[in-house]
Amino acid sequence: MSDDRANGHEDLAERRYEPPQGFADNAIVGDPSVYERAKEDPDGFWEECARDLHWFKEWDQVLNWDPPEVQWFVGGKTNVAYNCLDKHIEEGQGDKTALIWEADEPDQGKTYTYNELAAEVRKFANVLKDLGVEKGDRVCLYLPMIPEVAIAMLACARIGAPHSVVFSAFSAGALRDRLNDAEAKVLVTADQSPRGGKANPLKQNADKALEDSPSVQSVVVVKRGGGEAPMTEGRDQWWDDLVGGASDECPAEEVDAEDMLFVLYSSGSTGKPKGIVHTTGGYLTHVKATTKMVFDLKDDDIFWCTADVGWVTGHSYLVYGPLANGATTVMFEGTPAYPENDRWFDVIEKHAVTILYTAPTAIRSFMKTGTGPIEKHDLSSLRVLGSVGEPINPRAWVWYYENIGGSRCPIVDTWWQTETGGIMITPLPALTTAKPGSATHPFPGIFPGLYDDEGNEVEGAGQGNLVIKRPWPGMLRTLYKDPERFRETYFETYGPEVYFVGDGAKRDEDGYYTITGRVDDVMNVSGHRVSSAEVESALVSHNAVAEAAVVGKPDEDKGQAIWAYVILEGDRETSDELMKELRDHVRSEIGPTSRPDQVVAVDDLPKTRSGKIMRRILKKIAEGDQDVGDTTTLADPSVVEDLQKQASAQT
Ligand code: PRX
Repeated sequence: MSDDRANGHEDLAERRYEPPQGFADNAIVGDPSVYERAKEDPDGFWEECARDLHWFKEWDQVLNWDPPEVQWFVGGKTNVAYNCLDKHIEEGQGDKTALIWEADEPDQGKTYTYNELAAEVRKFANVLKDLGVEKGDRVCLYLPMIPEVAIAMLACARIGAPHSVVFSAFSAGALRDRLNDAEAKVLVTADQSPRGGKANPLKQNADKALEDSPSVQSVVVVKRGGGEAPMTEGRDQWWDDLVGGASDECPAEEVDAEDMLFVLYSSGSTGKPKGIVHTTGGYLTHVKATTKMVFDLKDDDIFWCTADVGWVTGHSYLVYGPLANGATTVMFEGTPAYPENDRWFDVIEKHAVTILYTAPTAIRSFMKTGTGPIEKHDLSSLRVLGSVGEPINPRAWVWYYENIGGSRCPIVDTWWQTETGGIMITPLPALTTAKPGSATHPFPGIFPGLYDDEGNEVEGAGQGNLVIKRPWPGMLRTLYKDPERFRETYFETYGPEVYFVGDGAKRDEDGYYTITGRVDDVMNVSGHRVSSAEVESALVSHNAVAEAAVVGKPDEDKGQAIWAYVILEGDRETSDELMKELRDHVRSEIGPTSRPDQVVAVDDLPKTRSGKIMRRILKKIAEGDQDVGDTTTLADPSVVEDLQKQASAQT
């Protein structure tokens, strides 16, 4: 990231930020001995965290580790929905606000108490049962940020049916692939998805996907936009009609700790998304403990995680983590700029949000606008700020701290992944002296390390590939229907005991970790994972494209911008219109986050003698770097000069 030096002098990463004075006195974790205890007895630490949940039957064994297979809380019986709802109601919290829903239009939101949310969840659980959903059947949720998405997730959890949430901005093709891979029996969607004052025709997309999704027997449609939606007789039914007649009595299924809670698809280094599988007891233990300890979550906090539920952050820190802790969670349907560019700050003030958890890309866009929108609002309710999804550059960190946090709120820069289920490397707000840009220390009970490319562990201060050396409860258990890819992706590089993260990292002399970005062919665009291979295959599905290679280019706003090089079919001429058409084609094939920022038509690509595209060289060319490094392994080193000429002529 460019220019992280204030006034061209000070290196902001060198600054130190102590926890606010007195913060530790009332903090959930104010005693640093937790780190030592968890290091000496990690199983004991996690067992203590698990005891914070309700179990119908306690486990016989904390951890069963047969690398790379892992089971946590073996033999234990629990239920995620019971823990997120009934437990709090039994403890006298039924009238507490569980969910604040802030709609796209500022005056249309609503709130749910724990009692109300539980009633809706039980009703929808009965609806699913009536549709023939049984324990173990997959239910796909293609829904906008509306209460029904949380209700449906919890209803699935209540009856032991794993959910697969598909981000509502994904295309029909992306939905179809996920429906088919998961062999979903039911799809829950909405007529429309209003965002920023515009309506996205969700049901029409869903219908396209359903043309080729034979496993889906029933479709439930939430009326959100209120407009016309095509309904297929015998297959599609309105949510309200079904829920209207359903009973609000539905006992929670006693599921095994290792029963699957959900599958969530994420981009990998091949074109096919990975179905990341999370199970019940370990996942909930991990997300409940991290939500409480990392954000210092207390009874009267209002927790706003801005992520969409279509991503893992929304699963773990909008729905399951806050609700497992009996907190009040905020769900926002809209965008930062609608109706005005102060909308987020309006939401913070209106609901007196105390904890804000967001992504660096959002902070950078606020930096661009300046502090005007912030100054219109009272943000004094805020007390802890979180960052997630991509490295936060020190300048954005300091800006977040000073302008949104009023220089009084600790920032927790949390590193984790869809695969890890929950937060792994993070400050603890009462204990950690922050260094801007660094995710700091492992959470208690987490054992990261650095390895070099030869497989040797890097000791002390240094740089390398990030790994996790011991299992943790929220760890993915497998890739759906693909245990071999699970093993190859995560447990082959450094053997079956060492989880290969896919990120590079540095560790300084104080043991602080700073994540440097992906080491595989996965890009991080505005905090979203985008696979180079997936964009390439979308490009070659266009009839003008013979071959494509895609790389990430460092970008001030988005972290990385997508650069695509294409070789056109013999008879096609390049033109601005065609390049735009190709970018739009990728958007409609995958979704808006995958749309390339730049498509460059070239005559040839830099390949090794064995035909592998050298993306390293393409990255340098995208960055406009004249020195592309070693080209001796290229089959034809002269392509580099041609590529440089072609790229600079077209950009
Ligand atoms: O590269 C890391 C980056 O996001 C990747 C995980 O993406 P995903 O599975 O979509 O989950 C995003 C939300 C947890 C990681 O491999 N990443 C995530 N958090 C950070 C980060 N990079 C640097 N700092 C972070 N705090």
